[in-house]
Amino acid sequence: MNFLVLGDIFPSALPFLKKKIPSIIKKNKIDFVIANGENAGKNGMGITKKIAENLFKLGINVITSGNHIWHYKEILDYIDSENRLLRPANMSNDLPGSGHGIYKFKDMKICVINLMTNVHMPKCNNVFQAANALKKKFILKKNVDFIIVDIHGEYAAEKMALGHLFDGKVTSVFGSHTHIPTADQMILSKGTSYQTDLGMCGDYNSVIGLKKKIYLKKMLNRKNLSRNSPSMGKASICGSIINADKKTGLTKRIDQLIIGENLKKI
Ligand SMILES: [Fe+2]
Repeated sequence: MNFLVLGDIFPSALPFLKKKIPSIIKKNKIDFVIANGENAGKNGMGITKKIAENLFKLGINVITSGNHIWHYKEILDYIDSENRLLRPANMSNDLPGSGHGIYKFKDMKICVINLMTNVHMPKCNNVFQAANALKKKFILKKNVDFIIVDIHGEYAAEKMALGHLFDGKVTSVFGSHTHIPTADQMILSKGTSYQTDLGMCGDYNSVIGLKKKIYLKKMLNRKNLSRNSPSMGKASICGSIINADKKTGLTKRIDQLIIGENLKKI
């Protein structure tokens, strides 16, 4: 079973993804695609119904998110009607949508979980307690066949600790949000694959996807408080391909996927 997982999608990457996703799926015999879509909106924040539906049409099965999920108000209604769009599970229970979903693939059930860390992130419930509860709720080969976890967060140590918390209990844990791909993809000691951050699908000739000149202006001269916008140069696609064992639900192999001109091709 092959999963393609993609990091935070920026608007600059949308045409490149449209062009590349079908061939990535075909070439790597991908069965299921999960992408973080919380930066896909035109100013690099949030996602609209139209963008989400275009991503589903491209072959993305589930869209995860994070702190920017509520940027467009229309999402408050849409997320309740579309279970393929997730928001972090440890956000308040009063909010619409869900932080996990179960999706059928052939005769199997795939569980996708979305969490958000606590350090340097907007306030949400304790991510470790939320992770522990979900770990008890979804059990590999008992009530689901595969479990993929997107942990949206700034601080690497929290993500890595959560990787170990889930080790042996889920197929794969990866991080999102920093927009920088890390090269630490590994299979932990009990068989769960882990990567601190997938990186973004966007223009890397930027500051984490935003226009570099405006970003520097803002940093050098605090008087310039104009809002930055996404850098719309040539995009790269960043993610990983996870090959999972149908018998155990754990990872057999993980390979980083980087396609584009500004980052080294693998
Ligand atoms: Fe984020």
